[in-house]
Amino acid sequence: MTEPIDLAALPEDFAWGVATSAYQIEGAVAEDGRSPSIWDTFCRVPGAVAGGDTGDVACDHYHRWREDVALMKELGVTAYRFSIAWPRVVPGGDGPANRAGIDFYDRLVDALLEAGITPSATLYHWDLPQTLQDRGGWPVRDTAQHLASYASVAASALGDRVRHWATLNEPLCSAWIGHLEGRMAPGLTDVTAAVRASYHLLLGHGLAAQAIRAAAPGAEVGIVNNLSTVEPATPCEADVAAARRADGHTNRWWLDPVHGRGFPADMLEVYGVDLPERPGDREVIAQPLDWLGLNYYFPLVVADDPAGPPPFTRQTGRPRGRRTGMDWDIDADGIESLLLRLTDEYGARRLYVTENGSAYPDTVGPDGTVDDPERVRYLEEHLAACARAVRKGAPLAGYFAWSLLDNFEWAYGYDKRFGLVHVDYRTQKRTVKNSGRRYADIIRTHRPAPRAA
Ligand code: IFM
Repeated sequence: MTEPIDLAALPEDFAWGVATSAYQIEGAVAEDGRSPSIWDTFCRVPGAVAGGDTGDVACDHYHRWREDVALMKELGVTAYRFSIAWPRVVPGGDGPANRAGIDFYDRLVDALLEAGITPSATLYHWDLPQTLQDRGGWPVRDTAQHLASYASVAASALGDRVRHWATLNEPLCSAWIGHLEGRMAPGLTDVTAAVRASYHLLLGHGLAAQAIRAAAPGAEVGIVNNLSTVEPATPCEADVAAARRADGHTNRWWLDPVHGRGFPADMLEVYGVDLPERPGDREVIAQPLDWLGLNYYFPLVVADDPAGPPPFTRQTGRPRGRRTGMDWDIDADGIESLLLRLTDEYGARRLYVTENGSAYPDTVGPDGTVDDPERVRYLEEHLAACARAVRKGAPLAGYFAWSLLDNFEWAYGYDKRFGLVHVDYRTQKRTVKNSGRRYADIIRTHRPAPRAA
């Protein structure tokens, strides 16, 4: 029996959201002046993406955004977290803005506001313009400056209506998975490139935060990290030390610098790479944050792995217990402890769960419905854990379910379905899953419609 969600613990103006990202849903990769991104390139590398899938069409959201806004309205969500495609808005990476690209987000934002849904924009969700990759990408310092120029373009165009801005989504994935493990674009396996990329991503975050605030006074700026609780696979000393390194790699490397603590010294030793640091960078990286975003999916259980790449750990997972279709362990307590860690250890003043969700192989049944009880349970358990964290003092202001729609799950292609809404990729038909209906019920229960006088 799933624990009831203590909705009374959540603030009255709690943001009930759904999240997506540009490359995963938009399609229309060659329309209206959009240039290729590193993901367009990566998808063409043989074997890089399951089934040879690409984001060329995805959910065709670029053309179906009206329908998707209507779906959100039907679910009763009050906030929508989307990302802006850098290659659509500044196709050259730096330089002139593309009016047609901006117009798309202009229309989307207006429609959201019209539907009573608060827009929350993320600047960078992994779709670096390929032209910047050709000039060195994130391992090169200029890329951080280019992110700031693009931030200025986006915030100047939309900042009169969009208040809520995230600079980066999950820089861990861009740096570690893209440059060290090679499982994401640009597909490198080079620790020096990875550490330099991580540094310039966070420098870019700081510069972009300044640029957003300059272009849109009153903007509320944050950063979104994917964090995990970490535990050793066994109590032996080597695994305990491995867990400490995994925590540094996954959590502290991304949190400490933006909180003015610099990069963790123990991890610098693990990587053995000098930072490309210049005077003043530390302060730029530590711009004041209006809020902090937590993307939470799974706990990490790790063992020592001296032969592996840095941080020399191996994910063992839990020997038993429930897992999602991604083979990720399910542990809702993790979201509670991370929210409390951000509150107690990092002094967060406002938090959002900017992503949380689960993939399962959903199908549309003969009666036209999508029954996804595991996702319903995952959602309920994680919301219950969020409410517990709030009772214990976490300043949680909103929750964004990942994802509104089934979509392009990066190297897994279209095989993994995270949506509250099922997408038939052949017809582009959207079907609200039972989990979407359950989410709508929860929102309604927390925000009862005003009674007629
Ligand atoms: O689909 C991704 C998203 O782009 C970033 N966070 C994790 C999700 C699920 O893997």
